[in-house]
Amino acid sequence: MRRKIKSCCFPSCRLPAGKRSAPAFLLAALLFLSGCGGSQDDSLRIGAALYTQDDTFISTVAQNLEWMVREAEKETGKKVTLFIADGRSSQNTQMDQVDRFLARGCDVLCVNLVDRTAAAVIADKAEAEGVPLIFFNRQPVEEDIQRWDQIYYVGADARESGELQGRLVLDAWRTNREALDRSGDGILQYVMLEGEPGHQDSLLRTEYSIKAVTDGGVEVEKLANETANWNRAQAAARTAQWLEEFGEGIEVIFANNDDMALGAIDALADTPRDLWPLIVGVDATAPALEAVAAGQLYGTVHNDGRGQAQAMIRLALALWNGESPSQAVKLEDGHYVWLPYRQVTLENLEEFLEE
Ligand code: BGC
Repeated sequence: MRRKIKSCCFPSCRLPAGKRSAPAFLLAALLFLSGCGGSQDDSLRIGAALYTQDDTFISTVAQNLEWMVREAEKETGKKVTLFIADGRSSQNTQMDQVDRFLARGCDVLCVNLVDRTAAAVIADKAEAEGVPLIFFNRQPVEEDIQRWDQIYYVGADARESGELQGRLVLDAWRTNREALDRSGDGILQYVMLEGEPGHQDSLLRTEYSIKAVTDGGVEVEKLANETANWNRAQAAARTAQWLEEFGEGIEVIFANNDDMALGAIDALADTPRDLWPLIVGVDATAPALEAVAAGQLYGTVHNDGRGQAQAMIRLALALWNGESPSQAVKLEDGHYVWLPYRQVTLENLEEFLEE
């Protein structure tokens, strides 16, 4: 199925200069200066399209991809070139980037969709060129994954992250109910900061975090919910409004990701600490781990960006070498690689700080 490998040059590797790793950047520049370097049949070229480089979790995945590429080169002795494109939250921009990756002969594509409904178009483009395609983080519907046997999805089960987040709150309720149930009415009053509408992680984390609490026998009352689009500043603004509206009535702030949990913390900066609600996030980003250490964030759920990057690079190498992908990664249903989530609290924080 693999087509002839052409040279791949992507002058617009769009990571902001400060975020680019020197080797990836230098390599891209060298290829550009040498007119894309001609055919390099012994080198694997991977095109990675990000929905936006400005997302904290996604930029962590991108950094890990660069790291894993260097590791893979050391392990295999093969040349691997990674081209990263920033979609800047525009599906049209991302389509152009995918077209350019394909036109310039990338061997494998890794795509973090801007809009999950665009998966079919990208899948058909990749299939037409015979280039294996790995979607990550933004999960296409099953029908789109099934369009071709060389389409994969690398991610984590959104439902699991919601359940683990809900169980953090349930444990806090069980172990320290008096502190949590400030109103003393036996009901847990909460607000929900939601991620981008339509994203599987927003929908399922919102649903399953609360389900875990109610399945544990705790009655809940939703005071408010709103999207803050995964964004810290938007979450700070929403939380500030809610604090005005509900004040100490808010017992828990659920945030679909850590950036939004940190936004909630920003909004609470002027509130005395003993009046803060319990706050939980998802991702275990570096600043969120610091907030756990400082006692500001009660807990989070580790989203394994490093594992996802590693799975993509392993999969890409196997596909390029014509090996069975299931030898390289744990493949489910022929198309899916799932990385587990893990709870993080002050108790096990050290493990994550070391990673
Ligand atoms: C992460 C968010 C991130 C989003 C981007 C989610 O899995 O938890 O932090 O903003 O993916 O698609």
